[in-house]
Amino acid sequence: MCGIVGYVGKKEALPIILKSLRRIEYRGYDSCGILVQDDGKMEVHKSAGSGSIDRLEASLSGSKYEGKIGIGHSRWATHGAPSEKNAHPHLDSKGEIAVVHNGIIENYQSIKEGFLSNCVFKSETDTEVIPHLISKKKVSSEKFDWQIKEAVKEALSYLKGSYAIIVAVKGFDGLVAARKESPLIIGVGDRENFIASDMSAVLEQTNRIIFLEEGDIAVVKKDSIYIENSGSEVKREERLIEWTIEDAEKGGYEHFMLKEIYEEPRSIIDTLRGYLAEDEINLGIDFKMEGDVKGKSILMVACGTSYYAAVCGKYIIENLAKLPVHVELASEFNYADFVLDGTKVMVMAITQSGETADTLMAMKKAKRYGCKTVAITNVLGSSATRIADETIYIRAGPEIGVAATKSFVAQLAIFYLLGLFLSEMPASEFVDHLEELKRMPQVAQMVLDDENVNIQKHARYLSRYEHVFFVGRGVNLPIALEGALKLKEISYIHAEGYAAGELKHGPFALLTEDTPVIAILTPGNTYEKTLGNVKEIKARGAPVIAIAEESDEEVEKYVDAVIRVPRTSAIFSPISNTIVLHLLAYWTAKERGCEIDKPRNLAKSVTVE
Ligand code: F6R
Repeated sequence: MCGIVGYVGKKEALPIILKSLRRIEYRGYDSCGILVQDDGKMEVHKSAGSGSIDRLEASLSGSKYEGKIGIGHSRWATHGAPSEKNAHPHLDSKGEIAVVHNGIIENYQSIKEGFLSNCVFKSETDTEVIPHLISKKKVSSEKFDWQIKEAVKEALSYLKGSYAIIVAVKGFDGLVAARKESPLIIGVGDRENFIASDMSAVLEQTNRIIFLEEGDIAVVKKDSIYIENSGSEVKREERLIEWTIEDAEKGGYEHFMLKEIYEEPRSIIDTLRGYLAEDEINLGIDFKMEGDVKGKSILMVACGTSYYAAVCGKYIIENLAKLPVHVELASEFNYADFVLDGTKVMVMAITQSGETADTLMAMKKAKRYGCKTVAITNVLGSSATRIADETIYIRAGPEIGVAATKSFVAQLAIFYLLGLFLSEMPASEFVDHLEELKRMPQVAQMVLDDENVNIQKHARYLSRYEHVFFVGRGVNLPIALEGALKLKEISYIHAEGYAAGELKHGPFALLTEDTPVIAILTPGNTYEKTLGNVKEIKARGAPVIAIAEESDEEVEKYVDAVIRVPRTSAIFSPISNTIVLHLLAYWTAKERGCEIDKPRNLAKSVTVE
């Protein structure tokens, strides 16, 4: 996610804006930019690439670059490649209105082609429509503040999507800030005020924080803060924050991993938002492979958690679109004698970072076979996007914890979209599925709200064991595999994920009262069979914790404990089951005192074969 910062006060803005940008560097960024203004002058400076804040600072040192109002931006690209041209702030045609933005404007293309068709755009971003829209409203010097606020309000009324913005206007002695579905705070100082998307950006300057609420629009000046919502002035409480900067970076959570688990609903919302307009799915890529996708197949290549997401994707796409999907570990695919017909197989590479060496190699191999390649990734401009013919972005935002969490559910969200997009199901069935997909963020939130405490209790219990099995079937088999991977990598407990029906073909020999089994038992066509498997497991003395739907009373008779999830149709159950297992792994590792965000011997991005 992008970070935005603003300052208006008695001091020089430049060093404050740079310091604030440094404070949000931990979130990851690919470019940055600042604007400082005073006395009717506005100057913008931008830099792209890793370390660009350093370069920006170096390029400005010694220069006479004064002004007591400033805005800044660190960009995590979503629309348009990471480059200086696409870095914020973005300006209107006259260079008098500057905007920094965090969020996604869904309808920017139609605004560009419609209402703003006579404007010249300098970037490929969704953001640039905002200053142009604001400039459409004529502003005279009379009641200047009020008019600027009204112009921003009117511009915002055109936008669909999410935003936190800060607007600077030439000759205006303040800043306008507004938010919808993206966080924004005001730091209150003494004859100075700060604005930021992230509290950690301002805590070094002040701990007096106002949290703007949904739909708020604020006019922030050196000595005043005016906030309005739905046309009327509102008062927002100022709070004294006792957090350290480190606490603030993690949003008050002890670890990035827990913060990111709590961001799973948002990760699904943002991912869906990019591709859903009303009841239409537009993935923005051409699926044609010498004719139609029909009669062809998809081969997915991936590693680790992304591989498990891909296996789940296979079940999802085959169920919804009835299109055959094969999944290969990239590291295996690279050296196997695959028979691939490039005219019939589309290869999809699933990779959060877009930099995993094995996955990149597999993509290159697929291209040598003449296959069309599609990257499904979180990182704009990453190597995978440069190799692929087409890219579909998940929009999980920067993932800092080494263990993938919010990117996994975003990958699943893409597979639901893909499955529906490629399906030929009757319209009413399509709409039902789409409605259920849109409810998934809410379902995910319910799991976080209702089960977190209960899961901590089970985690305390699990933390005493050295071996744990995870079992599931069908679309939840890869979720069991993901649960086991997450537990082993962060808690160092030996964990194995298995197809529930397979235990009797070997692993039964390991079952004792010291090998707890986590069984995914949510409804579906394999429910009875899995329940049968659970009875077999119990008969071998192993304790069983089931993940079951909220009204399932039957399951309690056969297991030792139950973690509840909301009812969904079987194909959508992986979302809530995943969140349960991510929380379970997190709390177990915490109980064992492990270094959760940086597990031993592991790296976030595996750039070697
Ligand atoms: C596990 C984990 C890894 C990654 C794997 C692939 O929690 O994060 O298994 O999933 O290294 O990484 P990407 O998706 O970046 O290709």
